[in-house]
Amino acid sequence: MTEIYNFKEKVDYGKINEIAKEITKGKLVVFPTETVYGIGANALDKEAVSKIFKAKGRECDNPLIVHVSRYSMIYDIVKHVSSVEELIIRQFMPGPITLILPKKDNIPYNVTGGLETVGIRMPNNIVAVDLIEYAGVPIAAPSANISGKPSGTNIDDIKDELNGKVDYIIDTGNTSIGIESTVVKVENGVVNILRPGKITKEDFERRGYTVKLDSHVFKQPSFNEKVLSPGMKYRHYAPNVDTVLVDSDEDTKKVMTITNLVKENINKKIGIIGVSENKEKYISFENVNFIDMGSKDNIDEISRNLFSNLRKLDTLNLDICYIEGVKNEGLGVGIMNRLIRSCSYNVINV
Ligand code: TXA
Ligand code: MG
Repeated sequence: MTEIYNFKEKVDYGKINEIAKEITKGKLVVFPTETVYGIGANALDKEAVSKIFKAKGRECDNPLIVHVSRYSMIYDIVKHVSSVEELIIRQFMPGPITLILPKKDNIPYNVTGGLETVGIRMPNNIVAVDLIEYAGVPIAAPSANISGKPSGTNIDDIKDELNGKVDYIIDTGNTSIGIESTVVKVENGVVNILRPGKITKEDFERRGYTVKLDSHVFKQPSFNEKVLSPGMKYRHYAPNVDTVLVDSDEDTKKVMTITNLVKENINKKIGIIGVSENKEKYISFENVNFIDMGSKDNIDEISRNLFSNLRKLDTLNLDICYIEGVKNEGLGVGIMNRLIRSCSYNVINV
């Protein structure tokens, strides 16, 4: 049985405290962060952690992120921190970033998928921080979704997949960023971005870091290829319908390509996820269901609604869906990374 608490209007911190105590007893809790919701369990409790993998249907070699509420908790669970890593912690935490560090023995291997490293994240969300603080232990949490599906950013989406599989759900409404944290690993002083997110390459560069995007951010790893972040191997963010990403530097080319595809497939039921500005160009086609991803000038809005828009596709009984690419810079890099994966690398560049 899942107990759901609706704290959209007002958070009951007494209840958060009670739920935190249940975490120390091995229970699973869906909780909000500023990026997406997580399914949390006591990161120091191997049995509790194994329940997360079961609830999500997640591959056991795909490591979980460990969430902390204060700096000292990091040093309780990681072996050492270099000067560059220390600077990242002080400059970006709390915030939408996960830093990969060498783990101490108290972090069980099922948290890290057998790796000697652990992903550390200090969320910038008061409910998340209080939950961890009251629990008094770090909380291991992947995104709240069944493996392979888009991450959960609101409880309506999450309930469909996880009701009955977790003990508690804390509902505080839509998460504010909408895509998951930027995952980084420092190697020889260079910040390697394994998964792009709200904290961007430009954010690091502006502060004087040497930074690079890992080669797998946009490229599919080949069979058996070793990747720095095991999550990159798996099918992700995928709707049930075939989806194609249509990308170009020029907006008119994107629209023209998609319109031609619609005309060629006039007998099919087609979904289009595109920017508000282009809506008028598609809605005259009777076979098109248009999903508005937000204004092209508001990348934060596109990010916030991205996963619920992808989920909408599954409710429309479509034959195929075309998605407009966004500008590949800043937060757009994170969005393109998720879109490319949700389309299973099926991309038309024009
Ligand atoms: O915003 C977020 O990061 C959300 C919220 C709940 O904090 N969490 C999240 O977790 O997105 P998850 O499990 O869905 O994604 C974690 C990613 C995976 O791609 C995983 O492979 C990578 O982080 N990761 C975790 N630990 C790692 C490690 N030790 N080395 C390399 N990659 C790691
Ligand atoms: Mg995930």
